Amino acid sequence: MDESAIYEAGRVLAGGGLVAFPTETVYGLGANGLDEEAAIRIYAAKGRPSDNPLILHIASMEELDILAAEIPVEARILADAFWPGPLTMIFKKTARVPYGTTGGLDTVAVRMPSHPVAREIIRAAGVPIAAPSANLSGRPSPTKALHVLEDLDGRIDMIVDGGTVGIGLESTIIDMSEGRPMILRPGYIAKEALAPLIGEPEVDVAILGEAADARPKAPGMKYRHYAPKAEMTVFLGNPTDVCGAIEEALFRAAAQGKRAGVLCTEESERFYDAPVKKCAGRRNEPESVARSLYDVLRAFDRDQVDCIFSESFDDSPLSGAIMNRLLKAAGYRTVKCGRR
Ligand code: TXA
Ligand code: MG
Repeated sequence: MDESAIYEAGRVLAGGGLVAFPTETVYGLGANGLDEEAAIRIYAAKGRPSDNPLILHIASMEELDILAAEIPVEARILADAFWPGPLTMIFKKTARVPYGTTGGLDTVAVRMPSHPVAREIIRAAGVPIAAPSANLSGRPSPTKALHVLEDLDGRIDMIVDGGTVGIGLESTIIDMSEGRPMILRPGYIAKEALAPLIGEPEVDVAILGEAADARPKAPGMKYRHYAPKAEMTVFLGNPTDVCGAIEEALFRAAAQGKRAGVLCTEESERFYDAPVKKCAGRRNEPESVARSLYDVLRAFDRDQVDCIFSESFDDSPLSGAIMNRLLKAAGYRTVKCGRR
């Protein structure tokens, strides 16, 4: 770890500046979480709507007391089990947390990241760090420093390069602020891992994509997100049926003179005859799919395809998080595959 870079990042943050840094989930765009002016700079740099609240990142449990007005016992259990790590919890906020960072809400989202660089930077700054994903609003979240540079070069003060992140999808968000815990965004920590500790949590119906007009409880989940520029369709069903349906779709696209791309896996790549093919890892290793998904979505933009046909991933504990991001990227455009 480069001590001088960490020191410099802490100095810039403490002075109200913006620093992008790696976390175990995705790169974050950090600012002093207790300074409303600094938060405003985050919204400006990302082009983010100001009603979309920020997550505050901490490095010790003492900092939680500064931010959360009430800490239910279930939250302490989850903190013991999953912090530091890819879990964000929502609490009633204290007066110390400015409304400028919570989008005007009386609640605050808090996460203790496990990435050593993130932890050292938070410590060096000496304040909780507000950090959304370090992408332009609407673009896929950054999983490497180069993605941050693509989106935010010239708009922020500093990028700390910590290589490619380990997880690749944003943290699980769970609301602990009103009675029964509720998952607002699926992530690496699946519902099945939470249930044995605090009972079966509820799940915000809006994130399942089934109730198209439901208003999500995490304001950010309502925006078109993670999206490549080309029209994207997710093919649902078992892998064999999906493969067949994508081959047919490729044939039709070619007949219409469209340049099509396929989002597939290392196992299935050889089955497709397509102008552009991109592998999101290996199907039998869902972690590899999570890690490369956003990089692949960004790569389709560079290849200037007209349409993207994507396989689906319904067969692991990570499926909830992966499919949530894929379906959002596709604007919920799907095809159900299988024998009629
Ligand atoms: O893994 C992550 O969580 C990454 C890294 C950088 O930590 N951060 C991240 O932040 O994904 P962002 O801003 O891209 O997404 C934060 C989500 C948004 O959907 C926002 O609406 C929701 O959290 N959120 C934040 N505060 C909230 C609150 N008080 N109530 C409900 N939702 C909240
Ligand atoms: Mg984001």
